[in-house]
Amino acid sequence: MDALLEDLVTTPVLDLEGRVALVTGASGGIGTALARRLAGSGVDLALTYTSHAEDAERLGEELSATGRRVTVMHADFTEGAAPRAIVRRTEERLGPVDLLVAAAGMGIQKSWDEVDFDLWEQTMAVNLRSPFFLAQHVLPGMVDRGYGRILFFSSVAAFTGGVVGPHYAASKSGLHGMTHFLASRVADAGVTVNAIAPALIGGTRMLPANPHDPGALPLPIPVGRLGTTDEVADLAMAMLRNGYLTSKVIALDGGLYPY
Ligand SMILES: NC(=O)c1ccc[n+]([C@@H]2O[C@H](COP(=O)([O-])OP(=O)(O)OC[C@H]3O[C@@H](n4cnc5c(N)ncnc54)[C@H](OP(=O)(O)O)[C@@H]3O)[C@@H](O)[C@H]2O)c1
Repeated sequence: MDALLEDLVTTPVLDLEGRVALVTGASGGIGTALARRLAGSGVDLALTYTSHAEDAERLGEELSATGRRVTVMHADFTEGAAPRAIVRRTEERLGPVDLLVAAAGMGIQKSWDEVDFDLWEQTMAVNLRSPFFLAQHVLPGMVDRGYGRILFFSSVAAFTGGVVGPHYAASKSGLHGMTHFLASRVADAGVTVNAIAPALIGGTRMLPANPHDPGALPLPIPVGRLGTTDEVADLAMAMLRNGYLTSKVIALDGGLYPY
């Protein structure tokens, strides 16, 4: 057997079991689906919510019952101190963060001439500033330990402009530059930094419509339906498992934006 083939046969598949993940926006559609997958893969979880405490607590109980260590925390990322506080509390309760899944996001629809200062600031704080400071607080430990995964949640609006508004599109585009910058600085330390850019995922609070309802399409999507949170979770799990995938923004959009 040549050396390359031997390596392929003998290198163990690195799994996620026993890792600690911080999932922000876990009370939302995508965060909930991904938290369930992570728990199913043996990951201990810190889950954040903002206004939907009951949903987050229920999810926490469900996942604790599977034998995972789970902690549920309130976080409002319009507050500048929240990222540091959330990372610190996660470390106190569960230990160092191995996986950061920054799924919290807000998107209040406004036309470009209606966006005011406060909406611009809030959207940037939640969608762009907090992912950066969360990453800044978890990265040093990841680099020291030689393992880490950071996954941001962008949107196809970052490529196309989208329909929510300029504040939302700009906040999501900013994540792309940040992904590439951070990924390049930590790639050789076993830490990957990537983003998923979904579009039109049903069954979420952002888009509550049932993905399987053919009448629910606000835009012509080539696949002919909305995406599901499980489809987002599938892609996220593949990205989190893969140590050779980094500095990538992967769109998941039913073919809406070809590139
Ligand atoms: N659904 C889509 O079609 C779609 C498309 C493109 C991108 N995305 C992105 O995917 C991510 C997940 O969205 P989703 O579809 O799951 O939407 P969702 O169901 O509305 O969930 C959004 C999550 O963000 C949390 N959140 C909102 N404001 C916050 C704040 N000020 N501080 C901290 N957390 C806050 C929410 O907490 P509470 O509910 O507890 O208030 C909730 O957990 C977001 O970043 C979103 O922009 C979604």
